[in-house]
Amino acid sequence: MQPRVARRLFEVARPYWGLFALGLGCTLMASILDGITIIILIPLLKTLFGTAGALAQPSTQLEAISNQLLSPFLGGADPGEAGTRLVMLLLAGLLLKNLFGYAGGQLSIGVQEGLVRDLRVKLYRHLLTIDLGFFQRTRQGQLVSGIIADADQSKQAVTAALGSFFQNLVLILSSLFILSGISWRLTAITLATAPILVLGIQQLLRRLRRHAGEWAEQRGQLTSTVTERLGAIKLIRGYGAEEQEIAAFAEQSDRYRRRLIRTQRFQTLTHPVSEIFGGMVIILIIWAASNPDVIGVTLSPEVTIGFLAMALKMMAPIKALSQFPTSMALALAAAERVFAWLDRPASEVDRPDAVPARFERDLVFDRVSFQYDTEAVVTDVSFAVPKGKVVAIVGPSGAGKTTLLELVPRFHDPSAGEIRLDGVPLTNLTRRSLRDLIGLVSQDTVVLNDTVHANIAYGRPLATRDQVREAARAANAFDFVSRLPEGFDTLLGERGTRLSGGQRQRIAIARALLRDPPILILDEATSALDTESERLVQEAIDRLMRDRTVLVVAHRLATVQHADEILVLEDGRIIERGPHLALLARGGLYRRLYDLQFRTAEEVA
Ligand SMILES: Nc1ncnc2c1ncn2[C@@H]1O[C@H](COP(=O)(O)OP(=O)(O)OP(=O)(O)O)[C@@H](O)[C@H]1O
Ligand SMILES: [Mg+2]
Repeated sequence: MQPRVARRLFEVARPYWGLFALGLGCTLMASILDGITIIILIPLLKTLFGTAGALAQPSTQLEAISNQLLSPFLGGADPGEAGTRLVMLLLAGLLLKNLFGYAGGQLSIGVQEGLVRDLRVKLYRHLLTIDLGFFQRTRQGQLVSGIIADADQSKQAVTAALGSFFQNLVLILSSLFILSGISWRLTAITLATAPILVLGIQQLLRRLRRHAGEWAEQRGQLTSTVTERLGAIKLIRGYGAEEQEIAAFAEQSDRYRRRLIRTQRFQTLTHPVSEIFGGMVIILIIWAASNPDVIGVTLSPEVTIGFLAMALKMMAPIKALSQFPTSMALALAAAERVFAWLDRPASEVDRPDAVPARFERDLVFDRVSFQYDTEAVVTDVSFAVPKGKVVAIVGPSGAGKTTLLELVPRFHDPSAGEIRLDGVPLTNLTRRSLRDLIGLVSQDTVVLNDTVHANIAYGRPLATRDQVREAARAANAFDFVSRLPEGFDTLLGERGTRLSGGQRQRIAIARALLRDPPILILDEATSALDTESERLVQEAIDRLMRDRTVLVVAHRLATVQHADEILVLEDGRIIERGPHLALLARGGLYRRLYDLQFRTAEEVA
């Protein structure tokens, strides 16, 4: 499973392979230069301590190698001059090493952030094609954490692979090469301690990983609480529930604190553990180095110091390498969650033989049924909306009116029966062309966190300022928009909180007017408005319906009176149909709805 995820991630990273290789090259160069400094360090120590010339008779293989490499630089120089040259060389090496290290680091960041962006956009693009049911079943917090956190965490696979694994491997290998050049026995003794470090660190990491999972879970809950509860601030105030909310939040914060402390306990422990371990290794090396019978050679103090420096330097990469499986596992687990979403089938895919939609004659529902899960919501519904006519749907709450409307732009497809546009089943049309014919005003008006202009122009982003103003005027929105602090450039707050219900509706109507679609799907809002606001919205709706083919869920008397045909829906079935007056005369459900809903609303108005 995991190798498959790694391969897929590697595929997504394809555009970055070149940069990746370059970064790898820089990192390797830095590691090699790091190793080389030690070759300079030992002769430098010799000249500084004055115990011997920089190129004195070598007692170890490493010294022989370094003598050979350095003799062109030092040949003929007196000890003082040799020391200066060695310092210059050491500084040059240091500079070069850090240059390569920096370049490698920058390239690595470039690769990983590019990968994260690509993964994120890919996921977002895919989410927009998944069936609506998925969004109703999935908590928003989960989607957010997928697009933001999981995509972000996947990059650690790159960091772990590039920054950590290869770099540390090279560091360890070059260190081992140099160390064994000094004394392979001493190297073996030093190396023998490594498993203790690795095992110790891994124990800590295992616990850390377990707690980190629970900690992330707590963090997610805390985030959900904040967004959810603060979003319902009016509910909290209105019911005087502040204290109860604070107590619940404090309790959750405390759980988070405890979890974090438990996680940190292991994280902070890794440092002292490795430091104590490092100290013990130093003592061991000094002891072994001062016992020629243990390691077989006598090491000069300079060489011993060089060995110690190198051996300690090697500890960090060993530690990091032992963390590699953990960070890789965490990153791949995150990537796997992203891929699981990417693997959900896209429902917004047209048939290969789909044709563009045309509308000249009629929209026909032919024995249409639909169910969300198991229970039928729409059953055996047949009707036609001829071009230019208005068909209204009325019925009690939960009758399936909204669901029925949503079948037209194919938010869902019928489970039985067929909807046809000019005789062509909707499933044979491209979604894009079908939706281009339709203007949609939904029951709960959606106002985006953007300017008034952008909100109205949403369905026609290229509309001019004048066109937008014209639409606003026709929707009776112009006056109140003009009074906003920045007019059409006023930013509407999240969920349009700065607007009243009636104003929001008029923005939505302006949006549909600007798009000027031949077919209008209108789901009238149920929320009651005051008389003046109601009149403004009603006028706007009248203008919107004019010269269009309309399928409308009606809650207003004026709307049903205009309708050429009214369908009365109950439990997903059409139980009455006809024009307003005929239905009234029948004295059935329509009559009852009229008495309850339309007439009272009219009397209020
Ligand atoms: N996404 C969904 N998943 C499952 N069931 C749903 C979903 N949306 C609506 N329903 C159910 O389908 C039925 C019809 O809902 P619908 O929204 O179409 O009613 P409505 O006639 O528009 O009601 P209202 O007048 O209150 O807007 C209801 O019982 C509702 O619980
Ligand atoms: Mg509805």
